[in-house]
This record gives sequence, structure tokens and C-alpha cells, in this order.
Amino acid sequence: MNYELITQTAAWLKERISTHPETAIILGTGLGRLADEIEVKNRIPYSEIPNMPVSTVEGHSGCLLVGQLGGKDILAMQGRFHFYEGYSMKEVTFPIRVMYELGIKTLFVSNAAGCTNPNFEVGDLMIITDHINLFPEHPLHGPNVPTGPRFPDMSDAYDPELIQLANRIAQEKGIKVQHGVYLGTQGPTFETRAEYKMFALMGADSVGMSTVPEVIVARHCSIRVFGMSIITDIGVEGKIVKVTHEEVQKAANAVQPLMADIMREMIRRS
Ligand code: HPA
Repeated sequence: MNYELITQTAAWLKERISTHPETAIILGTGLGRLADEIEVKNRIPYSEIPNMPVSTVEGHSGCLLVGQLGGKDILAMQGRFHFYEGYSMKEVTFPIRVMYELGIKTLFVSNAAGCTNPNFEVGDLMIITDHINLFPEHPLHGPNVPTGPRFPDMSDAYDPELIQLANRIAQEKGIKVQHGVYLGTQGPTFETRAEYKMFALMGADSVGMSTVPEVIVARHCSIRVFGMSIITDIGVEGKIVKVTHEEVQKAANAVQPLMADIMREMIRRS
């Protein structure tokens, strides 16, 4: 991705945003309603933003929201770009590069995911402690963008302090949370039984088709990251049932107020 396009888009947005948010949120599949929790000041459709890819998948509204959550100025992406839609990894992660130019320091990511951990249930919230990148193209492939080193460290991709803060808040509020490794795969097929089993053996607790590219680029920009999965289906041997996009959205919808509760309080305190 041409760096000029990134700065051009950031400059366009700066003219339209009167606040200086340091926190951004990516609302994943079925989690668009988290947006209801945001006091929205501006709603900018991606289609109006220069150089932005346009989101196509059902369940994604495709808007940049500017507003407040937990009393802090934030940006929120309602709808993200997936590799399976045909976008390159540079396009998938373009908004993160723009966020960096806008001064974002902390990124909250959310997604819907299947689980490969036998202790998880549909509707569980999982705090992402680490990830496994199985995408076939790397978002940092190509000439190094000078926001970070050529060979960036990924040993603490998910900020340990933010994870601790989330744990404290979940405990205070009596919200059950799981912890685990999110495995990012290209999709668009859900996993075969053998693939779920392989991912479990690899060390994954949840599996989905997003998040990993954005997190890698955010870390390359030294943006702190906190991520949560909503477990929408079970990929555990002996418990696997057919999964559809509609069921994933339904399960995600049911739990998003709890995720919003945790994220709002985290933003308020951080
Ligand atoms: N696999 C991959 N992506 C997903 C799943 C899954 O089981 N559930 C929601 N997104």
C-alpha cells in the first residue's frame, strides 16, 4: 500500500473529526450492535472515505464511527475487511495504518470465533492472550513501512496490562471470561472436523477469519492491543454441529452487551 494514500486518507479524516481520539475499536462479525453503546458524533460511511476498501459481507455496515465510550473520545470501525472477501492484506490493514496516523495508541478488537477448547461453550467471552497466524499472505510482506522494525517482536502482541485490567473488571462485574489463543485462518470455509482437531493440537483455543492481520500491523505501529472473541460455535471433537453465518451472528448478538460492558469500563479506566 502506497504510504501517500494512507496519509491522504488520514488528512481527509482529520478535517472532519474535531476530537483527538487515542482509542479505537474494531467491531467484528455480529458485533455491530456494540455501536449502540457509543455516543456517536459522526458516522462516516467507508464509501465516502478516500482510498478505503468497501465492506461487502452481510452483517457489516461499513462505517467509521467517531464518538465517546466510557467518557473517552474513540474511533470505531463498524465492519472490517476480510482477506476472504478478496482484499489484499495491505487493504485489510489499511485502516490500522490510518489510525496510527490519526494518533491512535490503543486498539480494541473483537470477533466471533469457533472454539477448539473443550472447556468452552457457545456464548463464552474469550480474552485473547496470543494468536497463531495461518493467513497465506503476511500483512508486513514487502518493503518495511518505517512505523516499526523489519522484524517486529510479537512476544507480547496482546498487552498484558490490558488483559489484567479486563480480568479485574470481569471479576468485579461477575462476567465469566475464558482466556486463550486465537488462530487466524483465511476462510471462507468453516473448518472440517480434521482441521478443528489440527488447530487444537497446534495450541489454538478459538479460530476465526480476522483480527490477526490488524493486530500485527497495530503492533508494528506500537499500538497497544486488547482483543476478545465471542465463542459462537463448537469445533471440539464429538461436539461439532453444522455452523452457519446466521447462527454465528445470533450467538454473537446475544453476548455483545457483556463484551461492551467490559470494553467500556476498560476504556474509562485506561
Ligand atoms: N471457524 C472460523 N471462523 C469462525 C468460526 C469458526 O468456527 N466461527 C465464527 N467465525
